[in-house]
Amino acid sequence: MAARKIVEGVYWVGAVDWDRRIFDEVIPLPDGTSYNSYLVKGSEKIALIDTVDPTKTNELIGNLKEVGVKKIDYIIANHAEQDHSGSIPEMLKRHPEAKVVTNEKCRGMLIDLLHVPAEKFIVVENHGTLSLGDKTLEFILAPWVHWPETMFTYIKEDKILFTCDLFGSHLATSDLYAKDESKVLEAAKLYYATIMMPFKTLIRNHIKTIDSIDVQIIAPSHGPLYDKPQFILNAHREWASDKVENAVVIPYVSMHASTHAMVCHLSDALTKRGVKVYQFNLMKTDAGKLAVASMDAATIVIATPTFLGGPHPTVAYAAMLLNALKPKTKYVAVINSYGWASKTPEQIAALTPAINAENIGAVSVKGHPTEKDYAALDALSDTIARKHREAEIVN
Ligand code: FEO
Repeated sequence: MAARKIVEGVYWVGAVDWDRRIFDEVIPLPDGTSYNSYLVKGSEKIALIDTVDPTKTNELIGNLKEVGVKKIDYIIANHAEQDHSGSIPEMLKRHPEAKVVTNEKCRGMLIDLLHVPAEKFIVVENHGTLSLGDKTLEFILAPWVHWPETMFTYIKEDKILFTCDLFGSHLATSDLYAKDESKVLEAAKLYYATIMMPFKTLIRNHIKTIDSIDVQIIAPSHGPLYDKPQFILNAHREWASDKVENAVVIPYVSMHASTHAMVCHLSDALTKRGVKVYQFNLMKTDAGKLAVASMDAATIVIATPTFLGGPHPTVAYAAMLLNALKPKTKYVAVINSYGWASKTPEQIAALTPAINAENIGAVSVKGHPTEKDYAALDALSDTIARKHREAEIVN
């Protein structure tokens, strides 16, 4: 994708990765992604804000040539993860005079991950500034979105905030700005669910910081930019809030139809009680869909057969993933079919200690469910509906 001008002296020089389908070998990318790198030409100095994934270094080099860059004075590293920092070594080879400008933590990580020489750095503090002549960069530390070293860079004169991964979307598009808002919102929500969800409390604080700054453009490191910043800020305000939906997510695997029969009965029972259901056969869905549904659901019911004494391995994987993503769910339960003996509910609980939710019990059935077992699932539905009502979760 060719370089594009954002405002006078500020250019997008990144790369669009139309074909990438997985990130961190776990996150599905149905719509590809982009690695946004930005060039800021001041009257005296030139800065590159973040680079691109090392697989796309040649595209970055081509875009820098296109905008006539012969010399780079500063490479600003907002984040050490390799999809943004991975081309720094090649940039330093081509521009040996350049300094890498970042915070102390990010410096350490770039030395560890990319072996950037220690003497190449200029270390900045929170709200430190760097003059490029007629443009001034301000650095705002924004830890844990989603690594400990993350920071924002703000061009004071142009009121552009570069937020690295925060507010990003894995969306390959030729649009510089978010034009198709429903498409961008879907991609941004998937991105938030799979990357940012564990950090919701910190995100609320970062949004408060941004609210205190005059921002006209938000320029993240993945997906389109936002020339109407409130669009994406408001979406994140809602996603990071404590508000949950009157809904139950049921991730499940069934080997011989017994767990499936339990899941179907529970889904019907909940629906009859006015509770929305998101049912995921883990053999047919992907981690992204499960993560998005789990973002707002008040309850998660994990359903699994017992497989060699524990949860089915695919269910164990989903449980560990949910534990890592820390959804804001309020209640959790397990339903389980077993053949001769089972400690499966306890094992699921042991896999999900970081989900800060009330355990409202388990329905564990020997073999295929009977009328008595369906009655137990009805009772679980009653409990869920009552808990939601009592907590005033009615939307
Ligand atoms: Fe897009 Fe955390 O890297």
